[in-house]
Amino acid sequence: MKQRTALITGSSSGIGLAAAKYLVQQGWKVYATARNAENLKDLESMGAFTYALDVTLQETIDAVVNRIQEENGHLDAVINNAGFGLFGVFEYISDDMIQKQLETNVLGLARVIRTTLPLLRQSEDGRIVNISSIAGIVSLPLGAWYSVSKFAVEAISDSLRMELASQHIKVISIQPGPVASNFGQVTRKKMVIPEPDGVYDTVIKNAMNFFNRDFQKKERAKPEEVAQLIYRALTAKKPKTRYRITTTARFMVFIKWLLPDKWLDAIFIKQVKLK
Ligand SMILES: NC(=O)c1ccc[n+]([C@@H]2O[C@H](COP(=O)([O-])OP(=O)(O)OC[C@H]3O[C@@H](n4cnc5c(N)ncnc54)[C@H](OP(=O)(O)O)[C@@H]3O)[C@@H](O)[C@H]2O)c1
Repeated sequence: MKQRTALITGSSSGIGLAAAKYLVQQGWKVYATARNAENLKDLESMGAFTYALDVTLQETIDAVVNRIQEENGHLDAVINNAGFGLFGVFEYISDDMIQKQLETNVLGLARVIRTTLPLLRQSEDGRIVNISSIAGIVSLPLGAWYSVSKFAVEAISDSLRMELASQHIKVISIQPGPVASNFGQVTRKKMVIPEPDGVYDTVIKNAMNFFNRDFQKKERAKPEEVAQLIYRALTAKKPKTRYRITTTARFMVFIKWLLPDKWLDAIFIKQVKLK
C-alpha cells in the first residue's frame, strides 16, 4: 500500500508529539512541526521530517507546504493540533490576550487548512483532523475564551465537512477531556487571576479546586491514547464526525444533552460551590 503522508502542527509536546510518533511507527511519512524545530529532534531521529511552523505566521506555513509540494506532491492528512488555553476571570481578560488565543486556536487552524487544501485535493483520501476539546461543547466558568476558540473549531469542522464533501476530503473533530500534557502548565502560566478583592475570590478558589481535583488528577487521558484515537479517525473507512475521549468528556456531553441549561447551571454552581 502507498505510504500515507501527514502534516501535524504543535508536535513538540503532548498530543502532537504522541500523534507524530504513533504515525511514524505505523509507517506514515510525517511532517512534524512546532514553533521551534530544535524541539523536534527526537521525532527527527525516529524518521519524521521536522520543520519550524508557527500557525500565527503565514510565511512559515507556506514554507513547509511548499516543501511538501516539492517532495511529495500531495498530503493525505492534516492534524490541526497547535493550541493553548486562555483561562481566567472574563472581566480581566484584555483584547490583546483574546486576540492571541483566537490567533492561534482559530485563525492558525484556518490558515493551515486554507494553505494545505490544494495538496489534500491531490490525495485519494484526504482528511483534516481538528483537535478540538470538550470545551468546544461545554463552556465552564473561567474558560469562556478557550471555549470560544473551540466552539469556533467545531463550527469550522461542521461547515467544512459539507463544503468539502464533493472533493472527497473528510473533516473530523477530536474532543478530548483532560489530557496529561504541558497544557495545564502553559494554562496556569497564562491564567488571568486578579488580586483577591472579595468579588471573584470564591469563584476562583472553588473553580480552580474543582479543575485541579476533578479534571486534572482523576482521569486524564495519556497523549498516546489520543494519538491512537487520531489514528482511528485517519484510517476508519467511514470515520465519525467527532471522536471523544475520557469519561469526563462523554459525561459532560450526555448531561448537556439531557438537562435544561438552568438545571445544569444549578448543579454546577452547587457542586463547585460558586456561590
Ligand atoms: N491537554 C488537555 O487537557 C487538552 C484537552 C482538550 C483539547 N486539547 C487540545 O489539544 C491540543 C494540543 O494540546 P496538548 O494538550 O498537547 O498541550 P501541549 O503539550 O501544551 O502542546 C501544545 C502544542 O501546541 C504548540 N503551539 C502552541 N502555539 C503554537 C503556535 N502559535 N504555532 C505552532 N504551534 C503552537 C506547542 O508548541 P511550541 O510551544 O513548542 O511551539 C505544543 O507543541 C490543543 O489544541 C489543545 O487545545 C488539550
